[in-house]
Amino acid sequence: MAYILGEREFWGLPFRVSPAVLVPRPDSETVIEAALALLPERDRAWRFLDLGLGSGCLLLTLLHLYPAATGAGLEASPEALAVARANAEALGVAGRADLRLGDWRRPGWTGGLGPVDLLVSNPPYIAAATVPTLMPEVSRHEPRLALDGGADGLDAYRAIAAGAASLVVPGGRVLLEGGEGQAPDIAGIFAAAGFAPEAPWKDLSGIERVVSLKH
Ligand SMILES: C[S@@+](CC[C@H](N)C(=O)[O-])C[C@H]1O[C@@H](n2cnc3c(N)ncnc32)[C@H](O)[C@@H]1O
Repeated sequence: MAYILGEREFWGLPFRVSPAVLVPRPDSETVIEAALALLPERDRAWRFLDLGLGSGCLLLTLLHLYPAATGAGLEASPEALAVARANAEALGVAGRADLRLGDWRRPGWTGGLGPVDLLVSNPPYIAAATVPTLMPEVSRHEPRLALDGGADGLDAYRAIAAGAASLVVPGGRVLLEGGEGQAPDIAGIFAAAGFAPEAPWKDLSGIERVVSLKH
């Protein structure tokens, strides 16, 4: 339905969507809720980074909520990146957003993206074999690149963890959305990369949805 309408609301803001991007989910608003609680000073010049922009809903909502902040974003799909850039313009935050084409599977992907105070990501986290079994409106219409997290669903977290310590300042935070039951594994991957796990954030269904880590 969102693809037909071409728009979906996220945190009360309108986001343009196309079949190149994941439709923003209410569950992902948990990332914003956590950020607001962990970074209460709204007028500080925070530096944000969003890995896997899609529509840009995470980074652009943060830039809307923190008017002195700047943000970088990485996206592997040129079509999705175009949607995120259009949303940045429409929301009036494009001047504070550096949105780039890039792939965290490629060597040197972190170049020019840090240092940041907060790294957020809602990467693909569905196990490859599970993708075809999802509801048809997801499996047939949403981009595979936005869904497929490899054999166990955790490939993206491993790749991001390998670069995260060079991007996030000491004392900075990482907030990662994950699927049901994945929070302990995600926390373990980032703990091995030098981050201290904090209490996970639950979504409205009571599922541990967002892993929080401190550098
Ligand atoms: C689950 S979607 C999330 C999109 C958006 N952040 C949201 O919360 O709605 C994951 C996004 O990561 C992008 N992506 C997947 N693999 C990537 C990679 N290796 N490097 C960069 N971006 C990637 C996908 O194209 C997709 O836009």
